[in-house]
Amino acid sequence: MNDDIMKILGIESSCDDTAAAVISNKLLLSNIIAGQQVHKDYGGVVPELASRAHQQNIVPVVDAALKKAGIQKEGLDAIAFTRGPGLMGSLLVGASFAKAMSLALEIPLIEVNHLQAHILAHFIQSPGEEYRCPSFPFLCLTVSGGHTQIVLVKSHLQMEVIGQTHDDAAGEAFDKAAKIMGLPYPGGPLIDKYAKRGVTTTFKFPTPHAPGFDFSFSGIKTSFLYLVRDETKKDPEFVRKRQNDLCASFQKSIVTILIDKLTLAAESTGIKEIAIAGGVSANSGLRSALQVSAEKLGWNIFIPKMEFCTDNAAMIAITGYYKFLAKEFADSDITPVAKYPF
Ligand code: KG4
Ligand code: ZN
Repeated sequence: MNDDIMKILGIESSCDDTAAAVISNKLLLSNIIAGQQVHKDYGGVVPELASRAHQQNIVPVVDAALKKAGIQKEGLDAIAFTRGPGLMGSLLVGASFAKAMSLALEIPLIEVNHLQAHILAHFIQSPGEEYRCPSFPFLCLTVSGGHTQIVLVKSHLQMEVIGQTHDDAAGEAFDKAAKIMGLPYPGGPLIDKYAKRGVTTTFKFPTPHAPGFDFSFSGIKTSFLYLVRDETKKDPEFVRKRQNDLCASFQKSIVTILIDKLTLAAESTGIKEIAIAGGVSANSGLRSALQVSAEKLGWNIFIPKMEFCTDNAAMIAITGYYKFLAKEFADSDITPVAKYPF
């Protein structure tokens, strides 16, 4: 290791993106992602297809990340990988690769919680850009395909979930609504796109009653399903004709639920340092609603760059950096876990 400079390779394979990134302390040197098109027609990720694609992608993706960073594998100081939560077959590919590489290079192995990593993406320094990160304690709304949480972040490695979904995740609700409209997976970005051309007040969906800072999205999804089913019976062209308004109204409802609970958590804790993370933080409706709340309520907000919203390995590498500083290393017999609470 060169004095205090640490070069860490991050590997992410928890779902359907194979990703590798290299950081030098907090500075990002490379961030490579190979997505998987095979799931498009299935309405969701097919685990067996995902793990096969990870196996095909992992070597070229790691190779590309090292080349882009301009370093040899011997120049690495540690390897960080996603241990969970995620799909077991997918996680196993990244974990096995990371373990083998750390053994071969005789450098430390660091295991990373994917959800913690989404939050720590706010601490990545992108080359040539001004560095700005939240100060502790802050609240983070983590909204992805598998999770919806409000997290009280006390330090880089100390986090407490103070609210979460009782059923579907926000991203899952987006994807299921998209599937109901016959759109391919993942439907979240498509709903976002069509919502921009629609009217948010056209259709009304019920407000869920989850306690405290918790969420529930199954009611709104069912209500969307019934609306499309009933209206399609009357007019088979309903979805095609009203897609933009359906998307705008549905997105508005989801964003309102998210922002209302985040506001409640901010008021109850007195915290005004507010971040969002995870795939759904790419949603333009959520991003602008957060800006509106920030102005109204005096929040200091942190919205990730697009490349750090959805799954990536830069967030795994930065988490590896903080765990390296805390000397939190993993044994070589470590195994992935499908569920991984903080
Ligand atoms: O964090 P992520 O990449 O993977 C998980 O850890 O789950 O999140 C993926 C989720 C998917 O459900 C996808 O539809 C959603 O994020 N998503 C969006 C947008 N971009 C991605 N949802 C709404 N609007 C978007 N622009
Ligand atoms: Zn994720």
